[in-house]
Amino acid sequence: MRLAGKTALITGAARGIGLAFAARYVAEGARVAIADIDIDRATKAAESLGENAIAVHVNVTDQASIDAGVDQTVKALGQIDILINNAAIFTAAPIAEITREDYARVFDINVSGTLFTMQAVARHMMDRGIKGRIINMASQAGRRGESLVAVYCASKAAVISLTQSAGLNLIAHGINVNAIAPGVVDGEHWDGVDAFFAKHEGKAPGQKKKEVGEAVPFGRMGTADDLTGMAVFLASDDAAYVVAQTYNVDGGNWLS
Ligand SMILES: NC(=O)c1ccc[n+]([C@@H]2O[C@H](COP(=O)([O-])OP(=O)(O)OC[C@H]3O[C@@H](n4cnc5c(N)ncnc54)[C@H](O)[C@@H]3O)[C@@H](O)[C@H]2O)c1
Repeated sequence: MRLAGKTALITGAARGIGLAFAARYVAEGARVAIADIDIDRATKAAESLGENAIAVHVNVTDQASIDAGVDQTVKALGQIDILINNAAIFTAAPIAEITREDYARVFDINVSGTLFTMQAVARHMMDRGIKGRIINMASQAGRRGESLVAVYCASKAAVISLTQSAGLNLIAHGINVNAIAPGVVDGEHWDGVDAFFAKHEGKAPGQKKKEVGEAVPFGRMGTADDLTGMAVFLASDDAAYVVAQTYNVDGGNWLS
């Protein structure tokens, strides 16, 4: 019960890693708002976690939607102690085939969504004097380029950079901002990645997953549950002196 009495808003928590964070936070004593553009799935997810979870419709590309989601969460849970900026989308294409539309869509969700949700919740924390925690979801993709993944990689590099600047700025208000950089985490997100590589590299379905899993020093792909310990740590009192950092939780995939 390391988060007893705490409240958290988690974007993109209707499924995958965000849902695993929500479940673990509830198990650690927190009350959580599952904020997602897919409200039907968010509602089912919240129901599955019981009375300490609520579903909130948030589209992180729409400022009015972010503000309404923050207001709804504050009304329902009293305040927001922890934000996890988890909503994101993946895209991939060779450089010659990247479109402006796809670039704008990815940056709107992964970068602007992270920044302006962080801003909205930081303003709430500053207004109330809450010594809050903000955790941004980066990626090993933000640590280096990848031949077919330029736009997603750049968006996650931006998340790491935003975490550094926001972390340095907001610690003056007692708000710790840090990030988690996962490696390859099995789930619906990676089903899409696998399908992309099947198309672009002529691989059989499931082949790319098998390859990336075997390449992880730990010996397999990650699971969403592998990441929850770091999300609890960063939200806990034990991380009070941790500021503006991005932690790799990736089975040894990337050293930095
Ligand atoms: N799965 C991996 O291998 C992996 C690796 C590194 C980093 N990450 C990062 O971890 C986070 C979670 O990944 P995941 O695998 O659970 O992804 P996922 O695709 O399974 O879930 C993403 C969630 O975000 C929601 N979402 C999408 N657009 C939204 C919007 N505009 N507003 C609000 N919600 C929106 C979706 O409805 C979905 O519920 C992401 O930031 C992702 O980039 C994932």
